[in-house]
Amino acid sequence: MAGEVVVRPLREGELDEAASLGTAPAAFRDHYARLCALDETRPEWAFVAERGGRIVGRVVYWSLPRVREVVHPFGLQVPWDTPDWMETGVTLLRESLGRMRAHGAERVQATVYAFVDRARERRRVLAAAGVVEVQEKQRFVHHLDVPLPLPAAGLAFRPRTQTGDPAFVDAVRRVTEGTLDRLDAEDGARDGPAAAAQAYFDVLRDLHDDPDLWRLAHDPQGELVGLVVPQLLSAATGVVNYVGVVPRHRGRRHCDALVAEALRLLAVEHVESVVAETDVLNHPLAASLLRLGFRPEGPLHVHRVGLQQ
Ligand SMILES: CC(C)(COP(=O)(O)OP(=O)(O)OC[C@H]1O[C@@H](n2cnc3c(N)ncnc32)[C@H](O)[C@@H]1OP(=O)(O)O)[C@@H](O)C(=O)NCCC(=O)NCCS
Repeated sequence: MAGEVVVRPLREGELDEAASLGTAPAAFRDHYARLCALDETRPEWAFVAERGGRIVGRVVYWSLPRVREVVHPFGLQVPWDTPDWMETGVTLLRESLGRMRAHGAERVQATVYAFVDRARERRRVLAAAGVVEVQEKQRFVHHLDVPLPLPAAGLAFRPRTQTGDPAFVDAVRRVTEGTLDRLDAEDGARDGPAAAAQAYFDVLRDLHDDPDLWRLAHDPQGELVGLVVPQLLSAATGVVNYVGVVPRHRGRRHCDALVAEALRLLAVEHVESVVAETDVLNHPLAASLLRLGFRPEGPLHVHRVGLQQ
C-alpha cells in the first residue's frame, strides 16, 4: 500500500471512522465512552494510524485513576488481512507509546485472551513493538452449579469494613511473600513488598470497591492466616481477584476455604458465574480451584514493558 504510516491522536469527529475498523463498532464506541466517563481514558490517549489520508489502524490506552503510571491498550486494530498489518501495528504501538510516556506513563501492560479475534497476531505485534510476553495465565470459571464445601471450622472471616484498610494492605504484603505469580513477584522485586502491596490494593479498589466483600481470615489464636478479595465484574459475573495465605500457614489447603468463602459471598450477590485467573506456574492455586469445581476456560497472555525515558 502506498505512503508512510502516520500516527497521530484521534481528532474530533473521527470516532465513527476509527470504530468501523473493528468487527463490533458499537461495542467499541460504548466501551470508549464508558471509560471516558470514568476518567479511565481521554481523547488524547486514542491514536490512529493513517496511510494515504485514510485511517487504517487505531489503539486506545486506559489506566486506573489511582494507577496512572500503568497504561493498557484496548481496541487495537490494524489491516489484519493486508501484508502491512505488522508494520502498521508496530509503528502504531511504538509511536503511540512514545506519546503516552510523554503523558506520564511508565509501563504498558496488555492482556490478550486466546478467544479474542486475531489473538496470535495481537501477541506478535505487541512483542515486535517491544511489549514482551511476561506471563501465561489460565482462566477458570465456576458456574455455582456444584455444592460448595461447608465453611471451614477454625477460621474467622472479617470484612475490610471491620479490619480497616491499613491492616488489609499489610495482609496483602504478607500473603504475597513467596508468590508463584510472576507479575506479582516482579512488582515486589521492583517496588519493594510494602509499596507493591499498596499499589495492588489500589488497583483492586479501583476495579470494584465493595469493602463489605473483602475478607481477612484469622485462626483461633487471632493470627492472620490469609485473605480473599471477591469482586463483582458485573451483576452476573463475580471474580476472585486475590487470594493468599501467609507463608507459615501454607500447605494446609487454606486456599480452598478462602476461595469457598468468596464463592459463598458472591452467590449471595446473585452472580451466575465466578472467574479466577492464575499464572500457569501457580500450581497450588490451580489445584485448589479445580477441587472447588472451577473449570479451565482457556489461556491468556500478559505482555508488559517499562517505557524508558
Ligand atoms: C496460592 C496459595 C494461596 C495456596 O496456598 P495454600 O492454601 O497453602 O495451598 P495448599 O495448601 O493447597 O498447598 C499445596 C502445596 O503447594 C505448596 N505451596 C503453597 N503455596 C506455595 C508457594 N507460594 N510456593 C511454593 N509452594 C507452595 C504447599 O506447601 C503444598 O505443598 P505440599 O503438597 O508438598 O504440602 C499460596 O500459594 C499463596 O498465598 N500464594 C501467594 C499469593 C498468590 O499467589 N495468590 C494468587 C494470585 S491471584
